Amino acid sequence: MNRLIINADRKKGRIDRNIYGHFAEHLGRCIYEGFWVGEESPIPNTRGIRNDVVEALRKIKVPVIRWPGGCFADHYHWRDGIGPREERKKIVNSYWGGVTENNHFGTHEFMDLCAQVNAEPYICGNVGSGTVQEMEEWIEYMTFGGESPLTSLRKANGREKPWKLKYFGIGNENWGCGGNMRPEYYADVYRRYQTYVRSYGDNEIFKIASGSYDDDYHWTEVLMERAGKFMDGLSLHYYTVSGECWEKKGSATEFGIAEYFRFLQKALVLDDLLTKHSMIMDKYDPKKRVALIVDEWGAWHQVEPGTNPRFLYQQNTLRDALIAGISLNTFNCHCDRVRMANLAQIVNVLQALILTRGEEMILTPTYHVFDLYQVHQDAVLLDFQLDCGDYELNGEKIPLLNASVSKDGAGRVNVTLCNLHATERVNLEGIFNSAELKLERVEGMVLTADQVNAHNTFEEKDKVKPEVFKGVKTKEKGFVATLPAASVLRLSFDCIKQ
Ligand code: AHR
Repeated sequence: MNRLIINADRKKGRIDRNIYGHFAEHLGRCIYEGFWVGEESPIPNTRGIRNDVVEALRKIKVPVIRWPGGCFADHYHWRDGIGPREERKKIVNSYWGGVTENNHFGTHEFMDLCAQVNAEPYICGNVGSGTVQEMEEWIEYMTFGGESPLTSLRKANGREKPWKLKYFGIGNENWGCGGNMRPEYYADVYRRYQTYVRSYGDNEIFKIASGSYDDDYHWTEVLMERAGKFMDGLSLHYYTVSGECWEKKGSATEFGIAEYFRFLQKALVLDDLLTKHSMIMDKYDPKKRVALIVDEWGAWHQVEPGTNPRFLYQQNTLRDALIAGISLNTFNCHCDRVRMANLAQIVNVLQALILTRGEEMILTPTYHVFDLYQVHQDAVLLDFQLDCGDYELNGEKIPLLNASVSKDGAGRVNVTLCNLHATERVNLEGIFNSAELKLERVEGMVLTADQVNAHNTFEEKDKVKPEVFKGVKTKEKGFVATLPAASVLRLSFDCIKQ
């Protein structure tokens, strides 16, 4: 029997709500069409930002949005995106398809988007092709409350008060598209740029250094050693790439069980990566002051047939929902170090929450996972032990189940579970250990479908959506549940004092 032992009296730290964060880049149809339709659009909007998308994001309590990139960030000059829209400079988005960027969506529009969604802004500054002065002045433009030519400019552009801006990234992937730097060089560049990223008045900036990717531990080591004391966060990027390799990615929707299995195997690697990057950080920062910010993660497949290969528009199936479930459980379990994560990307790009077509919008299976998991935001991670069998295929093994457990502010215990087996349901016994609490009542929600490649389309919008889960019963000191094959599940327990 598979067993989940919950040690409810052992609290393991707070799950920062920002682990449920997102990423929006000037790439393909993410910003334009995804959010920005313009004030004159027949698509219902508020100051140019589409209402349906904002409403869907508010529903899942998106806590933070990272912008403007990605690789675009080290190519972006903020002054191009302020002032009367028709007068804004047009540029070439040379990294993402060489398309013309009209800069109609800039700082003011992004801050408005965050206010509408009720999310915190996380802005990534330009190190690769921008100057220290440009970065310093952007911060002043946005956050300085006193008098200066830059604040007068902000006011002339319609914003009287400074914005609150906490999270600021100093470059993106500076080992690659952000300047092809070596870590030793970037560590010094980082030290220099961050000096001029000022905290004005009561606006305290949380400085995030551009970090490593995958298992490049050397970058983390060098950055922590040489610049750790100058940063509040260090980033990490990890994409789960389908198919054989980056050059031969797999289809988002056409795959067999073997490819499904391999893909999940790759998503499970995240736990090991976080453990090892954290161990390096512990060496230089044993008190865990510096946060690990996984500001890009998610599934990367071939683009949908017939779409621009540089627009990274891909479908999103139940398989993607499973990797979202696994990854979020993993971040929860590493919440002592991981204090923000940003799925790539929020609308119409990579593992999107939402896909749009003209005035239509669909919610992807991944959106529904964020909906189910929102109960973990700012909850207390509880200790648990998961003893489960393996899912074996072609001589390889992965665990059958994946989980995390937390207690929310109202005292509810929420368990999120993934059954990774593509075709078999799994029985689970839950044991609830607590000197203080007793399980009272349980409610469950489940996301599953008949096929692991099931997905929502504009023709069939609700093919994959959460349903009430009836396969769970509480019993003396625990519960029993039967998890459908390939499913993401949330069990919520009301507890009483005993
Ligand atoms: O999310 C797409 C791209 O992936 C980002 O621009 C870049 O940072 C990463 O390589």
